Amino acid sequence: MTASHRDRVAIVTGSGRGIGQQIAIALARREARIVLVDIGDVTETAKIIGQDVLQVRADVSSEEDWAHLAQVVNDRYGRADIVVNNAGIYPMAHIDQLDVALWRKTMAVNLEAHFLSAKHFVPLMRKHKWGRFVNVSSNSIGLPIPGMSHYMASKMGVIGFVRGLANDVAADGITVNAIMPTITNTPGTQGAPEEFLRSVWEQQPIRRFADPADIAGPVVFLTSDEAAFMTGQALSVDGGLYKVS
Ligand SMILES: NC(=O)c1ccc[n+]([C@@H]2O[C@H](COP(=O)([O-])OP(=O)(O)OC[C@H]3O[C@@H](n4cnc5c(N)ncnc54)[C@H](O)[C@@H]3O)[C@@H](O)[C@H]2O)c1
Repeated sequence: MTASHRDRVAIVTGSGRGIGQQIAIALARREARIVLVDIGDVTETAKIIGQDVLQVRADVSSEEDWAHLAQVVNDRYGRADIVVNNAGIYPMAHIDQLDVALWRKTMAVNLEAHFLSAKHFVPLMRKHKWGRFVNVSSNSIGLPIPGMSHYMASKMGVIGFVRGLANDVAADGITVNAIMPTITNTPGTQGAPEEFLRSVWEQQPIRRFADPADIAGPVVFLTSDEAAFMTGQALSVDGGLYKVS
């Protein structure tokens, strides 16, 4: 492993399990200093990383929690370089069942959290004229999956926000990009019917169920020095499923 991220301070939300856990591990292997953020337990991730990590329990939909997180990170490291907005929820609800409470919760966790991260971390990144946001969207926004209108709206919103934020912070050396993972083998997808999972990944040229580590690799690139000229983009990480049309 290279030390491409040596001393970078990287905040990864939803890093207690699944895709976020693998992103945190991949960045730690590149020698970033990792801040594990989750509403749940992150001790398993901390144990796998096996070195000093900062663990912060936070709800990404809470502005108060973001303010606290920025304070804790600044007190500990005096800087923040990378924010990976990965925490997300994807409860299925057909439009006939979808209520306002679930719509708002999905928007708050999957989209508003990304705005809050920018409000609280852009000032810290500006201090060193360097920053990387990677915001997790989903390739499901282009797929005919029922029961996901709220989720798809939030994940489309992520791409719009990434595009807009990239424009506002480019002069500060900060890049903002989104990734769109395919259906991936995580605790969050474990309850889904096997036929449904297969129906998605069998359409991919790379015909297998993605591992969280498959998604982490492009995040390592987007948060590196080498990705400095790439911003405002949404990168499909989906085994080739996305069709340009
Ligand atoms: N797994 C997939 O098939 C897939 C595909 C495309 C996109 N995604 C996206 O990738 C991201 C991660 O998905 P996953 O499958 O690893 O999910 P997961 O459910 O396995 O893990 C999500 C993590 O986020 C945490 N979390 C949830 N709500 C939170 C909150 N309000 N505040 C802080 N932490 C919170 C959970 O505690 C958990 O540790 C999500 O944004 C998801 O929408 C997943």
